Amino acid sequence: MTGSVIAGTGSFLPPRLVSNDMLAAELAERGVETSNDWIVERTGIRQRYLAERDVTTSMLATEAARAALQDAGVEAGEVDLIIVATSTPDFVFPSTACLVQANLGAAGGAAFDVQAVCSGFVYALTTADSFIRAGRARCALVIGAETFSRILDWSDRSTCVLFGDGAGAIVIKASDEPGILSANLHADGSQMKILSAAGNVAYGEVTGDPFLRMDGQSVFKLAVNVLAKSARQACEEASIELFDVDWVVPHQANVRIINALARKLGLPAERVVVTVDKHANTSAASVPLALDAARRDGRIQRGQLIMMQGVGGGFTWGSVLARF
Ligand code: ACO
Repeated sequence: MTGSVIAGTGSFLPPRLVSNDMLAAELAERGVETSNDWIVERTGIRQRYLAERDVTTSMLATEAARAALQDAGVEAGEVDLIIVATSTPDFVFPSTACLVQANLGAAGGAAFDVQAVCSGFVYALTTADSFIRAGRARCALVIGAETFSRILDWSDRSTCVLFGDGAGAIVIKASDEPGILSANLHADGSQMKILSAAGNVAYGEVTGDPFLRMDGQSVFKLAVNVLAKSARQACEEASIELFDVDWVVPHQANVRIINALARKLGLPAERVVVTVDKHANTSAASVPLALDAARRDGRIQRGQLIMMQGVGGGFTWGSVLARF
């Protein structure tokens, strides 16, 4: 049966690197008090990249896509499906995926966005894999891209220090070789209040609250539990022992969540990819950014088993288990 293999990965970060100390100094000017020590101790974050005002999500997504296409040795014209996972699209419409498609000069195939916040990338990847399995696509570009800096309340220190901007992308292709082995997606909409940006544009103005709001402790507890359960499900469905997974690439929100997850799964911390220290939480971009970083620095090798995991607003979560 035709499945899909990961043919290449890429990522892109906006050039403005903001360390915790730089951010603390900027926030102090607005009367918001925080410190490098607090941020590192509570989250593991040391820096983030923030997009300038004229840099859009589709621009970051396009650069990440170009890098992934180059890595895969695939021409843009071969791509017959583009899915962008984002909660910070350029426009209400057209979708960010259509903008990326135009930038790449790859018109003709399907292009659409998926909105599942920090689970967006695993939702998009599972969707693309399903298209390929069903014979509806042969070469898909799956992108996670965000400019979360646009929806942060910079006067709320409990959220604004946690996020960054960026994009990551992968190319998957139809193949008879085993690639994506199993995937599961979940949501519990009744938990929407613990993490939301409950605003909208209507009648020419913003209605509701345009900023991200979060009950950090509730998110923390839920995240660890659902990620552990989802990882076990992915292994069971692929008839693979959890301990045989070479790398877990979890959503990068907080190093404490990541460490708690590794402990709950009984996996050594060395087998979990951590990039939250460098990128902060980039929502849908975090998993493909981490995947690309770990590939390019030689940690993840061809043939290894990788577990990609997302969790975030909605509440949503899921996992994709793949032989890289
Ligand atoms: N700098 C300094 N002090 C701060 C800051 C800050 N940036 N933010 C909060 N504080 C203070 C609080 O006011 C509080 O002070 P008080 O004790 O005087 O009241 C104290 O620090 C402790 O605050 P808590 O909220 O209890 O801190 P906690 O240890 O829970 O850490 C955090 C907060 C980092 C948000 C944690 O709960 C967390 O990481 N939760 C998960 C968040 C997450 O993963 N979000 C992303 C989900 S993915 C998505 O879909 C977007």
